Amino acid sequence: MQIPAPDRLLAVLPSHLHADARSRYAEHGATLYRRLAQLYGGSAGFDAWYEDLLALAGQLLGARPASLLAIDAQRAAQPDWFASEHMLGYSAYVAQFGSSFKGVAERIGHLQEAGVSYLHLLPFLRPRAGENDGGFALASFDDVDPALGTNEDLDALCTALREAGISLCADLVLNHVADDHPWAVGAVQGDARLREFFHVFPDRSMPDRYEPTLGQVFPQAAPGNFTYVEALDGWVWTTFYPFQWDLNYANRAVFAEVAAALLRLANRGVEAFRLDSTAFLWKREGSSCMNLPEAHAILQALRALVSIVAPGVLLKAEAIVPTRDLPAYLGSADTAECHLAYHSTLMAAGWAALAEQDTSLLREVIANTPPLPPAASWVTYIRCHDDIGWKILAEEARSQERLNGIADFFHGRHGSFARGVAFQSGRATNGTAASLAGFETASTPEQAADCLRRLVLLHGLAFSFGGLPLLYMGDELGTLNEHGYLADPGRAHDTRWVQRAALDPARLAQRHDASGAAGAVFGALRTLAARRQSQPDLAAGQPRTLLHAVDPAVLALARGERFLNLSNFSARSIELDLAAIGAGQWAVDGGRVVLGPWAMLWLER
Ligand code: GLC
Repeated sequence: MQIPAPDRLLAVLPSHLHADARSRYAEHGATLYRRLAQLYGGSAGFDAWYEDLLALAGQLLGARPASLLAIDAQRAAQPDWFASEHMLGYSAYVAQFGSSFKGVAERIGHLQEAGVSYLHLLPFLRPRAGENDGGFALASFDDVDPALGTNEDLDALCTALREAGISLCADLVLNHVADDHPWAVGAVQGDARLREFFHVFPDRSMPDRYEPTLGQVFPQAAPGNFTYVEALDGWVWTTFYPFQWDLNYANRAVFAEVAAALLRLANRGVEAFRLDSTAFLWKREGSSCMNLPEAHAILQALRALVSIVAPGVLLKAEAIVPTRDLPAYLGSADTAECHLAYHSTLMAAGWAALAEQDTSLLREVIANTPPLPPAASWVTYIRCHDDIGWKILAEEARSQERLNGIADFFHGRHGSFARGVAFQSGRATNGTAASLAGFETASTPEQAADCLRRLVLLHGLAFSFGGLPLLYMGDELGTLNEHGYLADPGRAHDTRWVQRAALDPARLAQRHDASGAAGAVFGALRTLAARRQSQPDLAAGQPRTLLHAVDPAVLALARGERFLNLSNFSARSIELDLAAIGAGQWAVDGGRVVLGPWAMLWLER
């Protein structure tokens, strides 16, 4: 396959950028062209469209500010910078964390104190008027939500964060737009070109053929995957809520528009993008329309384009899928895809181990997680703004009863300490980390200490597994479930709001008082972060070895040559003979350790 020359890319660039652009195109141009040809090569005018895309890439590279070009150069010299043991992430809503972009800037000190170097802000672009799925229904890719500030405030926040050594990650909702986004509005007004931006079917015949093999993301609140839109006189593909219209990536114009939107945000100073709902980007009849090869081709083409225009920028895949389907989002040694991907089954399996007092699911997830390709990393986390959907563990659990038992446990049944809130007919669970770990039900100091141990256990796994650990807003302060959303008719049906309350200033003020829950959790997490930073074997790329811990409640996970995490997921005290579990080299007195209930021990040598 003949790869087109980069003439159109270079034509619009000032001469001092030519050498870099040329060498990046030499490295990534073939992937860009091949993936786009795979997706769109059969359509008329493909080569001319590709040339126009190169010209667009040139314009965007030419518009990149000098400060960001400097970051590109720095990161090109150290491509695995984000896989370092020094990285720690934090995820938050702008409104709930700081009220506005300016308010977030005022909280930079708090982030620094917690050891954070990567801040993921949930969607902050202008959302749909009215209900908008927590900002995941976008009315614009270019203007921020006016309730949070101005585009200039965003620019100032990017700069302030960068000066503080914190990379800003923005959400990029690439699977769909809101029904009041100009593309949707144009389609409704009869613009035939924009109608092609969506999957619109004149009657039920195609939807009825697709539907039997599709899953349902919100079976209760938004059943089905298609919505009849009268103004279009057709059925629109809506994987999520009816007001979120899936984009049609079989249309190459959609790819170009979304890629350009991403790069314009990158030129404002956004350093990383959480690519929302990446699993759903391509549709094929008879399939689940998730994780299809074309979805990966789209991501690989996007990565190649980013590597040419803004190589300092990171792409992070949000694909909440079974373990088997996760690694593809990080690409391979041959073809890079996203730099980062959420390890969603590790997250769910950690909670499952707490419910079952048994690490067998967790160990299986870990055993099924292959080594990372070069310069890639997992995102490891215990909670986020979304629910924990237990079905992603179906392969490891092998039975629905087992998953139901885990869900029941977190919904407070069978005398459980947890106070989660059911979601999606009980197949998923919401709740803050502290409420799931038992802080709501703890009535004695001993029980509170157990809760703290459980939180340290799960965070300790996220901090040591090999990835970029991501804290969720408020979890660093032991925040509990907040049920105020029930009074809001636009939110009451969606229990995910139980973990999306505004950061509580009282808890923030108590963060140094170790006698209360907020201070105890904050102190414990700071200690963990400091220990992580001092251990080079915790960098994401270091090998991981699962030891046979004998007792099913224990996880024994070694990293590199010098680190071992021993975690007891049960309420029992467990004595371990280190030699017997193959950990004799971590010499401790007498070669034996006792792990108290829910205790975690990090051994280093
Ligand atoms: C992602 C988001 C979730 C949202 C969905 C649709 O899964 O994390 O909050 O509802 O995408 O945009």
